[in-house]
Amino acid sequence: MSKKYNVAVVGANGAVGEEILAVLHEVSFPINKLVPLASSRSLGKYVEYGNKEIAIKELTNSVFEEEDIEIALFSAGGSISAQFASFAVKAGAVVIDNTSHFRMDEDIPLVVPEVNPEDIAKWKKSGIIANPNCSTIQMVQALKPLDDAYTLTRVDVSTYQATSGAGKNAMEELVNQMKDFFSFKLEDSQHKAFKHQIALNVIPQIDVFLENGYTKEEMKMVNETTKIMNREIPLSATCVRVPTLRGHAEALTLTFETEVNADEARDTLKKASNIVVLDDTKNSIYPMPVTSLGKNETFVGRIRGDIFSKNMLHLFIVADNLRVGAATNAVRIAQKWVEMEEKK
Ligand SMILES: NC(=O)c1ccc[n+]([C@@H]2O[C@H](COP(=O)([O-])OP(=O)(O)OC[C@H]3O[C@@H](n4cnc5c(N)ncnc54)[C@H](OP(=O)(O)O)[C@@H]3O)[C@@H](O)[C@H]2O)c1
Repeated sequence: MSKKYNVAVVGANGAVGEEILAVLHEVSFPINKLVPLASSRSLGKYVEYGNKEIAIKELTNSVFEEEDIEIALFSAGGSISAQFASFAVKAGAVVIDNTSHFRMDEDIPLVVPEVNPEDIAKWKKSGIIANPNCSTIQMVQALKPLDDAYTLTRVDVSTYQATSGAGKNAMEELVNQMKDFFSFKLEDSQHKAFKHQIALNVIPQIDVFLENGYTKEEMKMVNETTKIMNREIPLSATCVRVPTLRGHAEALTLTFETEVNADEARDTLKKASNIVVLDDTKNSIYPMPVTSLGKNETFVGRIRGDIFSKNMLHLFIVADNLRVGAATNAVRIAQKWVEMEEKK
């Protein structure tokens, strides 16, 4: 019988943490003991794992050692990972971190299993494997097979990102503002998660602005893509928050070294792992946020050549940000890590 693992989920009752538990259960991850962790505020609360309810424990320096944790999936925010990941590593666990804290650290692999699974082997140096930003994961999954076929020379992307990308409170903010709208009180509505009202609006700012005029979210897409694809691909991103709850959409304009045919590119994407092509414009079939809810695949459609250049392609991709953009990718990393460790 193959080995079963003691697994901790840090931030287990957050938007991402709950999805990590759901995906672990769906893929029948080999778990011996599951330990959901959160702050002391959550003591007395439970999380669901299949049809079981498991009590949340408090995240402390010693909990990883006390519980003999072997795999720790962190999604409680960058400052929590900064403070506690080293305790999990010291206790002998591999940390798979969903926050941005370690992503650009040279000694820490940044992994999308469909793109650079080989980088998982570099985990030993730090004990940590970083999960990329949600908008980067779904994009590189679509870029990789096209890059292999035609060699990318430039990527231009505009995102349409759901409120859940900013956590549970942000989703509630949208719902409350919609309620206020229907009670004719939208002008008095509060906003905290976003810089402006999100209901019936779109906000061309995600995270803070940097000196170069781009936001931190946009530069994450630039820098993380370079690290994951292992070469610099010129990329420009415009990241926009839209009033949806779940499912990030992205419009991509891709430029290649060679000429590209849209039908061939469609076939290439159909063969790529965890990509589903939905591209039947005659019947108005294309991916939308609602298509992606609770799914573990990235959906691609509106695949078309450029009107002026034979080396360009345009497409529209959608994925569930809490799944593909966070939980599913983290669990796939954990599955690959287990596979590699057991081959040793
Ligand atoms: N949402 C996304 O699409 C997405 C995608 C990729 C990565 N991420 C990253 O994942 C992280 C979590 O995001 P989220 O959307 O799940 O946020 P969230 O819904 O706000 O959940 C935050 C979780 O962290 C826990 N937490 C907060 N402070 C803590 C502390 N001091 N000690 C222990 N646990 C603490 C919370 O537990 P309490 O309830 O006890 O406070 C809760 O379980 C963030 O770093 C985010 O950037 C999010």
